[in-house]
Amino acid sequence: MVLLSTLGYVGAAVLSVGWLCRKMFSRKFGTHDVNDDEDVQGKVVLITGANSGLGKEATFEMAKRGAKVIMASRNLELTQSVVEQVLKMHPSSELTAMKLDLGSLESVREFAKEVQSKFDKIDILINNAGVYAPLRKQMKTAEGYEFNFGVNHVGHFLLTNLLLDLVKAAAPSRIVVVASRLSDKAKLSFDDLMLEKENPETSKIDPYSNSKFANLLFAKELSKRLEGTDVNVYALCPGWVKTDLARYADLTWKQYIIMIPVGFVFMRTPKQGVQTILHCALSRKVRQETGQFYRDCAHWAPKSAVTDEAAQKLWNVSESLSKLK
Ligand SMILES: NC(=O)c1ccc[n+]([C@@H]2O[C@H](COP(=O)([O-])OP(=O)(O)OC[C@H]3O[C@@H](n4cnc5c(N)ncnc54)[C@H](OP(=O)(O)O)[C@@H]3O)[C@@H](O)[C@H]2O)c1
Repeated sequence: MVLLSTLGYVGAAVLSVGWLCRKMFSRKFGTHDVNDDEDVQGKVVLITGANSGLGKEATFEMAKRGAKVIMASRNLELTQSVVEQVLKMHPSSELTAMKLDLGSLESVREFAKEVQSKFDKIDILINNAGVYAPLRKQMKTAEGYEFNFGVNHVGHFLLTNLLLDLVKAAAPSRIVVVASRLSDKAKLSFDDLMLEKENPETSKIDPYSNSKFANLLFAKELSKRLEGTDVNVYALCPGWVKTDLARYADLTWKQYIIMIPVGFVFMRTPKQGVQTILHCALSRKVRQETGQFYRDCAHWAPKSAVTDEAAQKLWNVSESLSKLK
């Protein structure tokens, strides 16, 4: 009995300390200032990966503001259920659910054609969809590319280029690239972008980090190429957010035991995680900025070498990988 009540007190104390730490830490997350929002009523916002996590949260936020949202993702059934949830809260929302598999260049081309046939402009393009798959799983896209690099970078590279005329038609318009601070851990080698020379069982390279670094390089080069068009480009890290991103990671119970208390303190809810996406997509304050990086609704300086040279080199390689040219 004494042991049980002691355990109860210790448990309650640990939870309270954890909760206090979470409260303190969450002040750092940053909140998007809604008073600084550009009006998006009637504007077209395309969100990739709109049926889950951050994309779903962004869809709710854009629908709430009266934007017409194109919701792109692979699983249309799940997307349809999100459409119903949004309509319940915001009955006059205009939502178009469309199938897009960023892991297939053919699907990206079909999707872009469908968007072009239904819309004459895109005011905000949010490249949000993403996968996290460990190298040991050896997952590949339809073209045989390393899965993280293929979906997170090559698919979005092609998509953005195919939709660029629609985004330019809406200028002043924005392209928002959801990257990650894990890009700091990237070890991207132009000689082995698909990590075929690595041993999948023992490699220390994280293919997800590489793909997120590629997102930063892409945003940098895109912003240069769009100079003078009034289409501005933003790349961001949303922080560590509680979503389904780790679905392919097959975490062990030991990893869960470590992650649960750490996540309790440091992990953001999707509502907290979406703030920097909203900051980049809507804030008037950053309207004139382009080619910059953000985290916690403020500027962010990635540690990885996001150089002009690497950005241009990746762009050239991506043109042929995506069969754009
Ligand atoms: N969660 C975090 O801690 C965190 C941290 C830093 C950055 N991020 C970034 O945030 C973005 C959103 O991720 P999330 O955390 O919200 O994860 P999530 O809940 O797993 O959402 C990922 C979305 O991407 C879509 N998707 C996956 N593969 C796709 C494909 N081949 N084609 C089209 N859509 C695809 C998924 O829908 P379908 O499966 O239906 O296609 C889903 O809607 C990602 O770019 C991720 O890298 C997340």
